[in-house]
Amino acid sequence: MSKPKVLITRRWPASVEAKLQALYDVTLNADDHPFSADEFKSALRNYDAVCPTVCDSLPAEVLNVSEKRCKILGNFGVGYNHIDVNTAKEQGIIVTNTPGVLTESTADIAMTLLLMSARRGAEGDRLIRAGQWKGWCPTHMMSSDVTGATLGLIGFGRIAQAMARKAHHGFGMKILYFKPSPADQAIVNDLKATRCETLKDMLPQCDYVSIHCPGGSDTRHLINEQRLNLMKPTAHLINTARGDVVDSKALIKALQEKRIAGAGLDVYEGEPNIDAGFLTLENVSLLPHLGSATIATRTAMGEKVLENLAAYFAGKTLPDRVI
Ligand code: DGY
Repeated sequence: MSKPKVLITRRWPASVEAKLQALYDVTLNADDHPFSADEFKSALRNYDAVCPTVCDSLPAEVLNVSEKRCKILGNFGVGYNHIDVNTAKEQGIIVTNTPGVLTESTADIAMTLLLMSARRGAEGDRLIRAGQWKGWCPTHMMSSDVTGATLGLIGFGRIAQAMARKAHHGFGMKILYFKPSPADQAIVNDLKATRCETLKDMLPQCDYVSIHCPGGSDTRHLINEQRLNLMKPTAHLINTARGDVVDSKALIKALQEKRIAGAGLDVYEGEPNIDAGFLTLENVSLLPHLGSATIATRTAMGEKVLENLAAYFAGKTLPDRVI
């Protein structure tokens, strides 16, 4: 019997590509280029499984293609706001994702950005590279304390809770969180976390605000000018979730006018095209969507896709079925 035809849209860690090749008739994206809409349509017509990732775009007009062969999108990534899941469902395409395995590495990057923003790490690095450091002096590049400060989390899922553990147990931070319903009591007790019913209540209390809600139409521009104005002028905003949760123009303006002290960003609206307004600001730390970018995590993400494909082709229950 011939092996199922599987396409992966971007390069994966070599060990997982090798496992895939042993099991399926696999097509790799040899030069790792981003797929066009036409390439996706052709993939849906010609493969049993297509494995896209978070930088791909699968809107309705791509998924609605005629004469489809593909019945499963094994997404390499936990976020799936780049896939129109309602259309996928209508079209009878299963979507799976990779939850759980990138929790700690993403929370580590959130903490990295929090520390970089608070302690002006990127700015100091730029200063030295520009040959402008004149030596130590008591008032040079003073910044904000992290230890003992208040951290507000927008969303309180796996990654937010991991961030809260690092912040509370590692840095003695006070934890607030904004989530529609109360979190598990054991977690709340461990972190001494306080739930805020509204952002209006939480934002003015925070020294640091870290975003951990999913992207998509429900959360687009959740952080807008009005909400940025609720933050303390000494506060920092961290985003490792999805770029479109923050109105970039409003954030750039708030940073230019020093209405907040700083921001640390790993994700952007329309990435990898970053609003040029960020590039000239000293008070923003910018990373290129590195949240899950450790060898172990990216390998584990690939393994998760493999588990889902194996279950699908064996007719078993899919461990990470989104729809
Ligand atoms: C995801 O999996 O959604 C992450 O953004 C990748 O780092």
